[in-house]
Amino acid sequence: MQRFNFFVIILGFISPCLCTRLNVGTENDNYNVMDYGANGDGKTDDSQALVNAWSSACKHGGTLTIPAEKSFMVTNVKFRGPCKPKIHIQFDGKIVAPPKEAWKSGDYLIYIDNLDGLTIDGNGKGGADGDGSTWWHCKNCKRPGLFHFHSCKNLKVSNIMVTNSPSGHVSVNQCNGATFSHISINSPPNSPNTDGFDISFSNNILVEDSNIKSGDDCIAINGDSSFINATGVTCGPGHGISVGSLGKVRPNDKVSDVHVRNCTFSGTSNGGRIKTKMDTDVVVSDVTFRGFTGTCSGDIAINLDCSSDGCHNILLDQNDITSTSGKKLLVICNNAYGTATNTIPSVTCLLN
Ligand SMILES: *[C@@H]1O[C@H](CO)[C@@H](O)[C@H](O)[C@H]1NC(C)=O
Ligand SMILES: *[C@@H]1O[C@H](CO)[C@@H](O)[C@H](O)[C@H]1NC(C)=O
Repeated sequence: MQRFNFFVIILGFISPCLCTRLNVGTENDNYNVMDYGANGDGKTDDSQALVNAWSSACKHGGTLTIPAEKSFMVTNVKFRGPCKPKIHIQFDGKIVAPPKEAWKSGDYLIYIDNLDGLTIDGNGKGGADGDGSTWWHCKNCKRPGLFHFHSCKNLKVSNIMVTNSPSGHVSVNQCNGATFSHISINSPPNSPNTDGFDISFSNNILVEDSNIKSGDDCIAINGDSSFINATGVTCGPGHGISVGSLGKVRPNDKVSDVHVRNCTFSGTSNGGRIKTKMDTDVVVSDVTFRGFTGTCSGDIAINLDCSSDGCHNILLDQNDITSTSGKKLLVICNNAYGTATNTIPSVTCLLN
């Protein structure tokens, strides 16, 4: 009898281990950062716990969970691939940056690199906050951004809030295929260089059904990018949607096939604009501005300011931008070729 009892106890002890091992590698695995030693109090540095949870999720496949109603203070966290396919981040809680004095090093709060098929989804209340007010007074500081997606493919990000970045909120570089839906970006109008989205060297990017309030561009589309779409985005306050500055870093920057649809601009300093540096051979082509409605607080509603090589095949159609103060808004073109139809204010300066 004594022996038999002993045997049962040992078996009971071993079998949970076997079960856990068998689960490893299935898609339903959940890697909650709390199980990796995170505090979630918004004050203790949880960077290592997040990186450890990511390593497990990446290696075995599954969901990294940032739980609701908790804040995780981190600096410069890197989520790197390649990983097992179908990695998911359930972003229900908050990632917060420390104040400027406690920022260690690094250009971004969260750097996501080299992933194919990553999905990030939240409950709408989770996301990242950059404690930007501790940085904004220091205009010459190298201020970090919040989310940086580098070298991604087939990325889907939805239902997260990104607030108070020291500089840009979400940057996308060298990505092919990314959809951002229901993203809420919020920084005050006087915060310097706080672009909503910065897109560069990327193709097939869609920003949809999002709300972007910032101190700089709502969406900036930079060099060597094509098929960049913004649909159903509400911008303002901020500087509107911008292509460029082109030719700043490389003289041969090229942007094509930009589609901005069903966007609303309210209280922005510009609607849509193309920015190029003087004395460079920038080529801008096939840009359509359609369905812009909203108000403008500045003097200039549309500014197409191109270098001597010109912007070609610019189409403006069914835009209606009015001044908050009721004055006549200006349209400026330099070396811009194309046509405008059904647009208020009327555009007569395009070349053909
Ligand atoms: C962007 O819009 C163009 C034109 O409608 C479409 O061909 C393309 O598939 C869209 N791309 C994305 C990523 O939504
Ligand atoms: C833009 O809005 C109109 C009217 O609500 C809708 O019919 C159309 O499908 C929308 N276009 C896109 C690209 O979402």
